Amino acid sequence: MTITSLRGGAIDAIRSADLDRKTELAQESADRWFARRISLRSPLDAPLPERPGRPAKPVLVPPTQVEKRSLHTLPGRIALLHAIAHIELNAVDLALDIVARFASAHVPNSFFDGWMQVAYEEAKHFRMVRKRLNDLGADYGDLPAHDGLWQAAHSTRNALTARLAVVPLILEARGLDVTPSLQAKMRETGDLESAAVLDVIYNDEKGHVAVGAKWFRFLCAREKRDPARTFQELVRANFRSPLKAPFNDVARAEAGLTPSFYRALTSTSQS
Ligand SMILES: [Fe+2]
Ligand SMILES: [Fe+2]
Repeated sequence: MTITSLRGGAIDAIRSADLDRKTELAQESADRWFARRISLRSPLDAPLPERPGRPAKPVLVPPTQVEKRSLHTLPGRIALLHAIAHIELNAVDLALDIVARFASAHVPNSFFDGWMQVAYEEAKHFRMVRKRLNDLGADYGDLPAHDGLWQAAHSTRNALTARLAVVPLILEARGLDVTPSLQAKMRETGDLESAAVLDVIYNDEKGHVAVGAKWFRFLCAREKRDPARTFQELVRANFRSPLKAPFNDVARAEAGLTPSFYRALTSTSQS
């Protein structure tokens, strides 16, 4: 495959509606970047699209129309895996979008190392979850999905600190809060294969929040801004709903996201 540069590879992956090709392009671009075989940008790079390429299915619906079912039934487990596959697919495009959109930002090359590691792992997650759906007789696209993730990210397209606040430090950190109970429920139902997939995702996601926290703190330090206060300002300006407790404080702190960042933003907080 022709990859003009890291940004070019990321853009081609984002544009691709063929999900095998999208995830392959993401991983191949990461491999070539890590081997320092491609440059960061090239004049031949395609333009970054407004929306990522997607297949005709799943149909996108408002979040309220996505049905919730018990994990004790096969359709319930399929519905959960389908929702996770959709999140992982969005995560592939979002990590690549950070790389492509901010390829001209004044940041060290290790910034792109971090985000391409994230993109590589999100592509791996999507494929793992899709494979698990296939094993259960289903596929990605069988059920409707919602478009909230891309929309949440879209509002922060012009500012890197705001993007980092919303994508890794709110949306991915939320994954750390909810995944342990899903792992436990999957084990309870006896679906150990699906639980093992969630284990891989959970461990990798700690690293994604850590990449977000590291670069958020880096940018704040450079701009001489207090990171926790800056986070709160950006979240209030760019993210409509209050954050939902309970938080996985231990996993969040391990990733460098301490309670001083998010405590003041919960629905019960007065501040
Ligand atoms: Fe993921
Ligand atoms: Fe992630």
